[in-house]
Amino acid sequence: MRHGRRAFLAGSAAFAVAPLSLALARIREFELTAAPARVNLVGEKYPATDVWAFNGSVPGPVLRAKQGETLRIRYRNRLPEESTVHWHGIRLPNAMDGVPYLTQPPVPPGGEFLYEYRVPDAGTWWYHPHANSSRQLGRGLYGALIVEDAEPPFADRDEVWVLSDFRLDREARVTADFGHPRDQSHDGRVGNTVTVNGRLAEAFAMRRGERLRLRLVNAANARIFRLKFEGHHPLVIALDGHAVEPHAVPEGVVLGPGMRADVMIDAIGEPASRHRVVDDWTRAAAYHLLDLAYETAVLRDGPVRTAVRAPRANPLSEPDIARAERFQLVLGGGAKSPALVRATPEERRKLAERMRAGDMWTINEHAHRGHVHAPLYRLTRGASYVFEVWNDTAWHHPLHLHGVVFRVITEARRPWRDTVLLAPGERAALAFVADNPGDWMIHCHILEHQESGMMASMRIE
Ligand code: C2O
Ligand code: CU
Repeated sequence: MRHGRRAFLAGSAAFAVAPLSLALARIREFELTAAPARVNLVGEKYPATDVWAFNGSVPGPVLRAKQGETLRIRYRNRLPEESTVHWHGIRLPNAMDGVPYLTQPPVPPGGEFLYEYRVPDAGTWWYHPHANSSRQLGRGLYGALIVEDAEPPFADRDEVWVLSDFRLDREARVTADFGHPRDQSHDGRVGNTVTVNGRLAEAFAMRRGERLRLRLVNAANARIFRLKFEGHHPLVIALDGHAVEPHAVPEGVVLGPGMRADVMIDAIGEPASRHRVVDDWTRAAAYHLLDLAYETAVLRDGPVRTAVRAPRANPLSEPDIARAERFQLVLGGGAKSPALVRATPEERRKLAERMRAGDMWTINEHAHRGHVHAPLYRLTRGASYVFEVWNDTAWHHPLHLHGVVFRVITEARRPWRDTVLLAPGERAALAFVADNPGDWMIHCHILEHQESGMMASMRIE
């Protein structure tokens, strides 16, 4: 439209573009079609699974762009129900945020929508529908969106692991029990089959001596991961897309639903050795996710000599914490709620009644389900805010804000994030500048919690 030369990419098939035209490209085009598909998730011994997929694959294609480019994505809905695409973590204009009834009309079956926005930040992002989320993501609709920095930290290889899980029956069919009250009121729809890039994975090939940048995306409905790379010392260099001081995580890389981490791993294993990657978030049910499987060939003798460095910082506005207005955000509800213990018998009866009616969770005592949201907070454009979040429930919640990126000022490194994981009883303070006008969602990224009450919105004007 505005530029004569473009890099054109259809789906995942990025064909080679001459470096010159790439340098001049400002608009990058993609096509994304959401439709039923059949893919093999669990290996050839089992039947293929009927899923819903972007461009026929689970996860959808990895969309790659360069920082500052404009993405133009022609989205087609070939699902049997309405949908949208949300670009998780990207700071974009409100009309492109993909929340049905809040930022755009839902795209009906057979319909299309043109998403077009600039990507101001380099990092690891992802996309997924924002309609009927538990079912649509639970059937396989999600994919990674990587925005490349012009001067990335050194790595020999840059890989993405989209982590997720499925709840499958013995014939490898996705079970239809979406929206089950037990999942909603407890820890969400945790699947029984964990996938890495849409596969029950066994091995990930490594070469001694290489430095690997691994972008981890948790696209699961409800599963929280804590990954340990046995025999290796990954350094976290970015969280939710944004740079952090490189640091080791002996306790493991923790990812709640919606969250990302970029880690650098120096391949120090012996040729032909294997090392387990374990998820021990649920200690009693720790499992072996896959093996780092070393080839016999060696990439480099001895270690990489340059120290791991962080990516460049993204152009975020620094909140003025001393002057910020503070808002409280209390997460409530769910099974075994502390509020139940504090309640009088009469209140307890009311709470039970409310949960039976489907309002399992609350933000500031309000359970929001369905589509219409009067904003819970009104924020002045350009001003700084601190959200003081208290998880007054018996469960973990990865709380996600659309439209802004916040500093978690209650954590030592004060990382920039778009999603923060709160343990039962935990408090966190999130500081940000309300620099992006519009109505934005606030919700738990355990999709069954979101759909049974744990969502709200804020208006920046
Ligand atoms: Cu990942 Cu409201 O979304
Ligand atoms: Cu939650």
